[in-house]
Amino acid sequence: MVCLRRKVCCVIVTIALAIDLCHSQGADEIEARLFLAGLEQRSQLECNKLVEASWNYEADLSAVNNQLRAQAQLEKARWDKEQWELVTGEWGHRWPTLRNESLRRQFRHLSILGTAALPEDRLAKYNDLVSDMKTTYSTAKICDYNDFTNCNLRLEPNLTRIMKKSRNYDELRHVWEEWRLSSGALMRKKYEQFVELANEAAQRNRFDNMGEMWLYPYESLTFKSDMKRLWLQLKPLYEQLHAYVRRRLREVYGQDKVSRRGAIPAHLLGNMWAQSWSNIYDIVQPYPNKPSLDVTQFMQAQGYTPERMFRLADDFFQSLNLSAMPPQFWARSIIEKPLGREMVCHASAWDFCNGVDYRIKQCTEVNMDYLVTTHHEMGHIQYFIQYRHQPLIFREGANPGFHEAVGDVMSLSVSTPRHLKNIGLLDDIVIDRESDINFLMLMALDKVVFLPFGYLMDRWRWDVFNGNTYPDD
Ligand SMILES: *[C@@H]1O[C@H](CO)[C@@H](O)[C@H](O)[C@H]1NC(C)=O
Ligand SMILES: *[C@@H]1O[C@H](CO)[C@@H](O)[C@H](O)[C@H]1NC(C)=O
Ligand SMILES: *[C@@H]1O[C@H](CO)[C@@H](O)[C@H](O)[C@H]1NC(C)=O
Ligand SMILES: *[C@@H]1O[C@H](CO)[C@@H](O)[C@H](O)[C@H]1NC(C)=O
Repeated sequence: MVCLRRKVCCVIVTIALAIDLCHSQGADEIEARLFLAGLEQRSQLECNKLVEASWNYEADLSAVNNQLRAQAQLEKARWDKEQWELVTGEWGHRWPTLRNESLRRQFRHLSILGTAALPEDRLAKYNDLVSDMKTTYSTAKICDYNDFTNCNLRLEPNLTRIMKKSRNYDELRHVWEEWRLSSGALMRKKYEQFVELANEAAQRNRFDNMGEMWLYPYESLTFKSDMKRLWLQLKPLYEQLHAYVRRRLREVYGQDKVSRRGAIPAHLLGNMWAQSWSNIYDIVQPYPNKPSLDVTQFMQAQGYTPERMFRLADDFFQSLNLSAMPPQFWARSIIEKPLGREMVCHASAWDFCNGVDYRIKQCTEVNMDYLVTTHHEMGHIQYFIQYRHQPLIFREGANPGFHEAVGDVMSLSVSTPRHLKNIGLLDDIVIDRESDINFLMLMALDKVVFLPFGYLMDRWRWDVFNGNTYPDD
């Protein structure tokens, strides 16, 4: 093997370069491989410990777990720094001349340290800020619109349900405003400090600010302008969708509530962030006389449970000749909200860095949304499993957007009427033009609507990190 590589190397190197150089490249390469292999084992172990501690905390938001996780974060940061010093010090001038691109890329990734570049006290502060903000977000409570003695409404499941189901303008507005007052407003000062520390960390990695550092993994110099161009391409379709939905909402909520030409009040769109409008499909459905595409009632009638939803998703992936969920997955995932403790309910898929332990944490409810989400999260696990043979530094999406795309490719095909019919969740549906249009509208309310939302989030944060948007704004 080694010999073959050297031969390949010699063929590539031009005659002008001495054969010796070629040989020394080969030797360097062997040494580089050994060096990286040495780091790999320890990195997997440290990664596993941190993921384990993070999982324990997010699954049970106790003070003890929080402390254990903070400790694990610092230990991981210490190792990252140690590794980074080796990569940038001794190897710093050697790796850029390696011939093998994959090796170079590993070194390049390893020479970006991330937030661990902060001095330890400031790193601990940074981690505390992030953790405090997450806790505020996950534990925020507000009072009921009708009953001010009941102040125990949480985002999950209570407020999400109201946003989804209520068609009472004032109740929706109450929920939208109060939740922001009890989450975002309380984080404001912390977010400012977070931005400052994040930028300091980015600068220690030789980026201008954290926004730039976030862009690095896309490995593109034109990312921002590419996104802008893509958005402008999509905008005419979005504007038509927006105008159509606005007209329907005007009919439901009245001309005094929804203007003819202006923006739509965000609390009327069925979702706390207005990032997906599929929950108001009942209002905007183009052909209301066609059978419903929401299979929730069929799932409930057939006695579906969260476990059964997960088994169904597992069967789906296996039917595509992808991997079955491993035993650890079934033993350790959390698929229902546990009683008697606080937990981060936002659905997530976890890779424990050891090639065997993969889990999902999700407060599943028996409805169509969660059926799709379950497939989406399991799509992440599939991706984890497919790249588990890669070195740890490569075990992530091809770029930061790619993992979500893999999840969505899967969930998009699951929600088609044809598939739902195949698995016995839609009985008598005739697949004709009108039900096609209904289905496409439902997809647009989710997928087309999300694109400007996602773009907006990044635009806003880029501007916060680079100082174009000030805290007062
Ligand atoms: C570079 O190294 C990778 C990983 O070790 C290997 O899979 C690949 O074949 C190498 N490429 C060349 C051109 O030798
Ligand atoms: C509050 O009252 C409105 C009617 O006044 C009703 O439509 C709504 O369902 C009630 N909400 C809750 C959470 O009880
Ligand atoms: C919130 O939802 C949970 C789960 O359905 C329910 O048990 C609880 O009573 C709700 N809280 C309030 C304040 O309505
Ligand atoms: C499933 O994948 C295996 C190997 O990954 C392959 O040998 C087999 O032919 C595939 N089966 C089908 C039905 O595609």
